[in-house]
Amino acid sequence: MDITNVKPKNTLSPVVEEDMQRIIDNLGGLVERFEDSKVLITGYKGFLGSNFTALFSVLNREVLRKKAQVLCMDSDIVELDDQISGHANGFTLIQGKGVDDLPAKSYDYVIHCAGIASPTFYRKFPLETINVNAIGYWDMLQKINHSQLKGFLYFSTSEIYGDPDPKQIPTREEYRGNVSCTGPRACYDESKRVGETISVAFAQEKGLPIKIVRPFNVYGPFMRLNDRRVIPDFVKFALEDQQIKLFSDGSPTRSFCYISDAIEGFTRALLIGENARPYNIGNDREEISMWGLAQLTSSVLGNVEISRKENPEKDYLTDNPQRRCPVIDRARSELQYEPKVSLDEGLQRAIRWYKSTYFSNQ
Ligand SMILES: NC(=O)c1ccc[n+]([C@@H]2O[C@H](COP(=O)([O-])OP(=O)(O)OC[C@H]3O[C@@H](n4cnc5c(N)ncnc54)[C@H](O)[C@@H]3O)[C@@H](O)[C@H]2O)c1
Repeated sequence: MDITNVKPKNTLSPVVEEDMQRIIDNLGGLVERFEDSKVLITGYKGFLGSNFTALFSVLNREVLRKKAQVLCMDSDIVELDDQISGHANGFTLIQGKGVDDLPAKSYDYVIHCAGIASPTFYRKFPLETINVNAIGYWDMLQKINHSQLKGFLYFSTSEIYGDPDPKQIPTREEYRGNVSCTGPRACYDESKRVGETISVAFAQEKGLPIKIVRPFNVYGPFMRLNDRRVIPDFVKFALEDQQIKLFSDGSPTRSFCYISDAIEGFTRALLIGENARPYNIGNDREEISMWGLAQLTSSVLGNVEISRKENPEKDYLTDNPQRRCPVIDRARSELQYEPKVSLDEGLQRAIRWYKSTYFSNQ
């Protein structure tokens, strides 16, 4: 176990600063609940964890009179670049993978972002994936001190719906899913499903304030360029090879949600969501095919060529859902959640961040 107290450093990149300000403005008075609170962020070096770490960094710097005490943990399992530790001003950072690695067990809020979200990586580490989503999660709920806990955010996924029956798209929270329990995606999808069941059981039997969110294809700053999800892949191909490679026939569709909208929705669920009630968090306005996404990325970057390629990973497309689009009425009515950033704007913002982070000479 390696503990570091990070000293204050320079500000975040302008895109991230703007995103955080937007989230804080939209959350309004709700953020006061974090005054003087103890917060644990697991998986803080990952995409969502980095954004939550950035949010608390800005909250402490500009909003909270009594700062939140933030403890961040990551196991470094996927060994991707760390874009956040230098900005985790005054936070305690730990390398560890479970509740036994934590120096304290008592928190007001736990934001459990630890996971292995990119299909390429969860297929490589199926046992670790099951562990962090379900078995390690159970262990954490058993061992943390419940007395001061006000909210515990569990990240489920839209993948729990599997490849939905076409009549169930757009998909509501009530839909029970169509998931393979033995396919190459099962370690992720099924362990998230049992993670939700664990959440419900702990909330019912022990009264824990567990909030469940089901994110739908979130993207934006801090999703690392080599993370192998589709948006960083397209940007990487375009900027490095001047050619966007499509690993499917381009027909599968997704509804992408920009990070500032998603973090606002997740935080609303943490603070005002009903215990053990799943909320779809995403953007229901723009379902786009992978071909359409490649074209949009190409046009933002200046007419990059698009070509069809075979992915060297043999299971890349196995059990890949054909369509994914959320119904977000529940989050709209119960959390006052409303996504605001269009795909065009979000993609431009993400590309600004990728260029300044990875290609600063461009
Ligand atoms: N980003 C999305 O669009 C999306 C969609 C659906 C669900 N989710 C879920 O949200 C959570 C966060 O997603 P993300 O996109 O930030 O993932 P990510 O893969 O970018 O980051 C997860 C981080 O958790 C760390 N980690 C893995 N196992 C750990 C362990 N046992 N202990 C501590 N750290 C560990 C990894 O090293 C990584 O830095 C995950 O549970 C993911 O499954 C994300």
